[in-house]
Amino acid sequence: MAAIEVSGLVKTYDGVVAVDGVDLTVEPGEVLALLGPNGAGKTTTVEILEGHRRRDGGTVRVLGYDPEQGDRAFRERIGIVLQEGGLEETLTVREALEIYGAAYPRRLDADRLVELVELGDKADARIRTLSGGQRRRLDLALALVGDPELVFLDEPTTGFDPSARRRAWDTLEALASMGKTILLTTHYMEEANRLAHRIVMMAHGRVVAEGSPDELRRRYGSRTAIRFRAVDGIPVEAARLEGDRVVVETDRPTETLHRLTSWATERGIELQDLEVHRPGLEDIYLELTR
Ligand SMILES: Nc1ncnc2c1ncn2[C@@H]1O[C@H](COP(=O)(O)OP(=O)(O)OP(=O)(O)O)[C@@H](O)[C@H]1O
Ligand SMILES: [Mg+2]
Repeated sequence: MAAIEVSGLVKTYDGVVAVDGVDLTVEPGEVLALLGPNGAGKTTTVEILEGHRRRDGGTVRVLGYDPEQGDRAFRERIGIVLQEGGLEETLTVREALEIYGAAYPRRLDADRLVELVELGDKADARIRTLSGGQRRRLDLALALVGDPELVFLDEPTTGFDPSARRRAWDTLEALASMGKTILLTTHYMEEANRLAHRIVMMAHGRVVAEGSPDELRRRYGSRTAIRFRAVDGIPVEAARLEGDRVVVETDRPTETLHRLTSWATERGIELQDLEVHRPGLEDIYLELTR
């Protein structure tokens, strides 16, 4: 049975369509990243799956439950990164984990959780003394306290500094290797590329593309671009000028590069600022969500 099975999901706010017929399947143990521009409908979709919002149409099964029924057994099996606020500031990290954990029949112990989110040295610090990034890591620990099978993470690393983001990725990878199913949203292509087994791109409430990062690159990735500072007489027809750079797009980068570089070396020309750019997820994302 799939961990998440969504078919024809529709949600409107005052007649404005936010989610417009989304189909989505997430297998147990899979990490799925939902990408899309602001307002694409990602948070709305995630909140419906968490049981925090009602849908207007379609069928939704999460761990076999309809999240709208708000079954307690269902809540105990999922983890959600809490929205800001709502945490008792005077509690210590460990106390918060113990108090939240008490609500769950199955729980991870506080020591293990603080290790997992790298808050070991802050276990006895009061929540109000944590930095923004540390607090977000505590949010993640709290989402995991009930040892959930399925974790929803809506922009888990927004606002993290680059090294904190990389450490958060390590944590999420550790979770994935524990067999957790993870549905995350992100605006960071590198995050999706690194963590996701599968990516779903949304725009205007619809799914516009879906596949593993490699599949997306193969299916939608346009041609490799070779760039260098303009010189006269290069032996390639399909070259165009972009400012003071020549751009050659090719399906056969090895051959094209060989032709260019042998032409240049024979003439003792150094191709200045030579770059080979393989279209990445971000290029594909910008193209598909335009
Ligand atoms: N509570 C609400 N009431 C009315 N409209 C809403 C509400 N929440 C979201 N919307 C609208 O629904 C659409 C989808 O919003 P949603 O928050 O799901 O987008 P998102 O993909 O999560 O965007 P972001 O990347 O900015 O987080 C937007 O047009 C938004 O304005
Ligand atoms: Mg959102």
